[in-house]
Amino acid sequence: MKIAVIQGPNLNMLGLREQHIYGPMTLDQIHEQLKGAAAQNGVELEFFQSNLEGEIVDRVQESLGTVDGILINPAAYSHTSIAIKDALSAVELPTVEVHVSNIYKREEFRQKSVTAAAATGIISGFGPFGYHMGLIALMQIISEIKAVQEAQEAEANPAPIAE
Ligand code: DQA
Repeated sequence: MKIAVIQGPNLNMLGLREQHIYGPMTLDQIHEQLKGAAAQNGVELEFFQSNLEGEIVDRVQESLGTVDGILINPAAYSHTSIAIKDALSAVELPTVEVHVSNIYKREEFRQKSVTAAAATGIISGFGPFGYHMGLIALMQIISEIKAVQEAQEAEANPAPIAE
């Protein structure tokens, strides 16, 4: 199982930026921990961070056929980017949107996520642990999808009955 971890603008500044909101962990530290948790479950992660909307759109598009799911924090673009929302809708992959802070507890302009409309679910307000929660959710969703696909294939191609 392979999952793309896509991080939006200013998340490369975690550990430095507004520690009272986002905490002291750097993005590298978060990714290291996540990689460890994923490896224990036989999951491979591909990490990507960009401050540019179009690069995030490109990375979402590239996920089609290369990964089984997307763990994304579109950061400030969550509140504005129809382009990222459309890319997520286009690839139709299981997607969990993560926010380190609780966006519903913050300024009004953060309380709406346009990208979340294309996500399977959203996790917000649990700090960096939210990425772990998102990973667990994705592993579950992807396993369920694979089980259904295998059952459908088995039904379409039944094993020959031995004579
Ligand atoms: C964020 C919340 C956004 O409103 C903000 O612009 C970010 C980070 C979060 O993880 O809490 O950059 O996505």
